[in-house]
Parts: sequence; C-alpha cells; structure tokens
Amino acid sequence: MANTATIEIGGKKYEFPLVEGTEKEVAIDIKSLRAATNGIITLDSGYKNTGSCESAITFLDGEKGILRYRGYSIEELAEKADFLEVAYLLIFGELPTKDELEKFHNDIKKNSIVDEDVHKILNAFPKAAHPMGVLSSLTSALTAFNPSSVNVESEEDMYNAIVKILGKMPVLVAWTMRKKQGLPLDYGDDSLGYVENILKMMFSKPNHKYENNKIYVDALDKLLILHADHEQNCSTSTVRITGSSHAGLFVSLAAGISALWGPLHGGANQAVLEMLEAIKADGGDTAKYMAKAKDKNDPFRLMGFGHRVYKNFDPRARIIKKAADEVLEALGIEDPILEIAKGLEKEALEDPYFVERKLYPNVDFYSGVIYRAMNIPQEMFTVMFAIGRLPGWIAQWREMRLRKEPIGRPRQLYIGETERSFVPIEKR
Ligand code: CMC
Repeated sequence: MANTATIEIGGKKYEFPLVEGTEKEVAIDIKSLRAATNGIITLDSGYKNTGSCESAITFLDGEKGILRYRGYSIEELAEKADFLEVAYLLIFGELPTKDELEKFHNDIKKNSIVDEDVHKILNAFPKAAHPMGVLSSLTSALTAFNPSSVNVESEEDMYNAIVKILGKMPVLVAWTMRKKQGLPLDYGDDSLGYVENILKMMFSKPNHKYENNKIYVDALDKLLILHADHEQNCSTSTVRITGSSHAGLFVSLAAGISALWGPLHGGANQAVLEMLEAIKADGGDTAKYMAKAKDKNDPFRLMGFGHRVYKNFDPRARIIKKAADEVLEALGIEDPILEIAKGLEKEALEDPYFVERKLYPNVDFYSGVIYRAMNIPQEMFTVMFAIGRLPGWIAQWREMRLRKEPIGRPRQLYIGETERSFVPIEKR
C-alpha cells in the first residue's frame, strides 16, 4: 500500500503521509494541510471520520464487533477479571500483580474519606435534582477541597490524584442516591472489596445489619467492566479536550460526567427503561413504538439501539443480555420488561429499517434491566455508568497529558453574515 495520500485542489496536488496503527488501521495525517494549502481545512461534523488522537488504551472494530482493553478482549475480562484489576489495567497499561493490586486497593481505601463540608454542599441540592447534575457538581467541588494541581511530570503526584478520585467518587455516588432517598450517609467499610463497598454504601440501612448479595456484586462488577472504556466517545473526548487546557483531573472528569448525562450517550440506559415501561403501560404494543422510531416526523428513537461505531453488533450488549437472563433467574425475578425488551430486539433485527441502517442493541439496551433487578433507582442508572467509565476517563486523561498533546481547538467554516455596519437601536 502507498504510504501517502494525494489531495488535488484546483489542479494542485498535495501529499500527506499515511499513518498505520498496530491493528493495521490507516489514517491520513493532515497536520500540514492548512499551512500547505493556504487556509483550507477539513469539515467533519460529529467527527465521524476524524481521529482526534493516537491512543494505546482501547481498540474497537465496529464492523467485526471487537472491543479490547490494552489488548485483552472484553469477553475475557468480563469473565475473568474484577473491576479494580481492569481499572489498573486501563490506567497503567498492564494487569496488576497480586501485590500491585493490593497496594492500589489500599491506597484507594486510604483516600476514600470525603470532607464533611462536601456533605453541606450535597444538602443544599433539592431532593428532586437529577443525580447526574449533583454528581458532576460534587466532582467539580472536590477540586476546591484538593486545590493542589497535579504535577503531571511526577508519577507520584499523578498516582495520588488517581487513587483519590477512585476512592471518593463511589462515596459521592452513594451519597447522591441516599440523599434522594432521605437516608443517612454511609461511609463504607474498609474490609470490603471495591464493588462490594459501593453496594454497601448505596444500600445499607441504619437499623439493619448489611449483608452483601453475591449476585448483585458479580453483576455490578461485570457491568462496570463493560462500561470501563470505549475509546474516543463523547464524554471521553470531553475529558481529554477539557484536560488539554491543563485543567485538573477532577474538573475534567466533572465535564465528562456532564457529557455522559445526555440521552444519546450514557443517559440512554435510563431512557431505555422509561421507554420499556411506557410500552408496558401501553399494553405491550411494540409495533406502535417500532413505527414511531421509523417515522421521520416523530423525534422518537428506539433507545438502546444504534451506535456510532458498531455496525454489526455491540459485543458488550451480548454479554449484558446473557447476564440479565442469569441475574433475573438467580434472583427468581420474572420481569415483563425483559420480555418486552427481547420482543423489541427480535422485531428490530428483522425490520428492514434497522437492518439497512445497521442498528443493533447497544450496551444500554439490557443494562437497565439488571440495575432494576438490583433495586437501583432509574435516575441512578447513568450514575452507575459514570462510575464504570471513571477508570477509562482517568486513563485517557493521563495518556493525553503524558503524550503532551496540544490544546484541543477545532477550526470551523464560518457561514454567518459578512461584514456590515452597526445600526443604532432607534433605526432597527
Ligand atoms: N432509532 C431509530 N432510528 C435510528 C436510531 C434509533 N435508535 N439510531 C439511528 N437511527 C437512524 C437515524 O435516524 C438515521 O437514519 P437516516 O439515515 O434515515 O437519517 C440513521 O439511523 C443513522 O443514525 P445517526 O443518528 O446518523 O447515527 P449516529 O452514529 O450519529 O448516532 C446514536 C448514533 C447512538 C446517537 C444513535 O444510534 C441513537 O440516537 N441511538 C439511540 C440512543 C442510544 O441508545 N444511545 C446509546 C449509545 S451506546 C452507549 C453510549 O455510547 O453511551
């Protein structure tokens, strides 16, 4: 294969190098385009064809349905690893040894106390506030309580910031839920595993000895692993671009949480459940909702379907669908919502509209069914996604800073008014 690409503009040819990744993907390096062509830029709204960076963290092939973290398949990690191991792998590049993992967990535990004054900020939010808004604000507020900026030249400084946020974020997540439910805050238990502790902080009751349910722990562990990274998606790109101005780790993460909130991204898991419940309340008429999804005059979309990069299947959705079946069976729950989801999936997979557009169930289509079986409130679903995505965001932020990437600053093609004279207010 040639190692350059030629672009011809107005009869003049410009050559640009081709860059090849380790999985043989090829990119045209257009760094010199604007300078060489005297101001011409590329236009790619939604960045459908634009690589924003080189990254060694996550590989995905949307055509083949492949997802790998640092070279390990998502299927193998979901089956054999736990969430903290995966977090370490994503952030530092290799699976931890037993000692490394133990140290990592101990350091996280040492950093899991949240300043009591954060509690005051939490109390100032109305109970009706959406947990994603609260989580984003509290994550941002953590900066005020940990004002020293991270010296990215220092591995130690970087490590300390990482264990701090991995320790404190689950506390903020649990507090956000408990505040909504009017429950006293729980500070966790150091003797528990990372994921066990998250569940304890969320579900313990002040008048009842808390006992962990292994089915819940295993299910949440798997869900968090499946959500842990997904290369340059909307929230991750937000974290990288925010951090590229050398803004700190915590505020970059707060920006990522806000980006994740939207229903086209992480907010889809809540939207899926709301959609399935609406279908159930409507007598289970899936055909009506299929027709709405296909109607171009109706803004309704089949939530949990479609993906920017997966055009064959989402490997995470396969694992989650199986997990949903197993969890519900193990808990002895028969949920009509799961049956509606399966029916809808079957119809969509046979419908030419969805087939032609290569629309398949994504990671969020079945995750809500599992969260629901675990008694996690619907408004908390996207928050659970955020806690899963945390190691991915951290890994991407760290990589971006260590690679000394320049500030993210896209260009635009201006389509507004050309120069005109100011009109005084009385003459308008
Ligand atoms: N229901 C109905 N039609 C759809 C859907 C859907 N869920 N998704 C895409 N389409 C249609 C869309 O109308 C368009 O049709 P046409 O070519 O006739 O104009 C075509 O398929 C291509 O869609 P697009 O919006 O150009 O594709 P995109 O890559 O920009 O969007 C997406 C990807 C995930 C935003 C979109 O598929 C969607 O809105 N899905 C529903 C929301 C959802 O489940 N989001 C979670 C994504 S996975 C988890 C995560 O990353 O956070």
